Amino acid sequence: MNRIAKTNMLIAAASLPLLASCGGGASEPEPVDEAAVTARSAPVAQEFQQKLKTQLVAALTNGGPDSAVSVCSQVAPAIAAAASGESGAEVSRIARKHRNPGAGVPAAMGSHYDALAAQPLSDGKPAVRIWRSGEDDDARIHYLSAIPMQDQPCSVCHGTAVDPALKQHIESLYPGDLATGFKPGDLRGAMLISWQADIFQ
Ligand code: HEC
Repeated sequence: MNRIAKTNMLIAAASLPLLASCGGGASEPEPVDEAAVTARSAPVAQEFQQKLKTQLVAALTNGGPDSAVSVCSQVAPAIAAAASGESGAEVSRIARKHRNPGAGVPAAMGSHYDALAAQPLSDGKPAVRIWRSGEDDDARIHYLSAIPMQDQPCSVCHGTAVDPALKQHIESLYPGDLATGFKPGDLRGAMLISWQADIFQ
């Protein structure tokens, strides 16, 4: 009980109260040190989003939305790959209403993603879920952090009134694009940082 109380205090300090309800599958495995996972994962998630946003805004300003789309499609996977290499975690973005068809939500993560969708912000900060999956050599710890929709610059390409010519350009690159129609505050997607569980033992 003490341990749980302590964890909850740390979580409260990090303004991530949703973590308190995280458990895992039916056969509840070892507890997860959520504070340690947060300490390693949050900077990786933040750096990814900051780098991408900086490049996105620069591309929008310098070349306009069409060229920013190309930047986004090339730069986002490159930043994710670099972040994965640097941190030792697997870094990616997932979304139910995704643009990149490779960015869907894996079935096993559905309930965690849905919890973020129900409440993307927690005390004004992106909500987070942490859980463990698999066993032995396959054991992994996942950190899933909400990416709430923002008006600027996101609405240009993901909003409710995307310019028709831009929408056409996006659809030529991403046929079957699902990632428009978002309002500020909606869950646009989530950052997924996945670690080998033994890192935290
Ligand atoms: C210039 C257009 C543009 C803007 C502005 C933009 N995006 Fe995107 N977004 C894209 C493209 C293109 C992709 C697909 C990237 C890829 O191929 O991985 C994408 C993908 C994503 C994904 C990954 C999941 C998916 O749907 O494939 C998330 C999450 C996301 N964007 C969030 C945001 C947020 C949050 C903002 C505002 C900070 C934003 N985007 C601004 C064009 C844009």
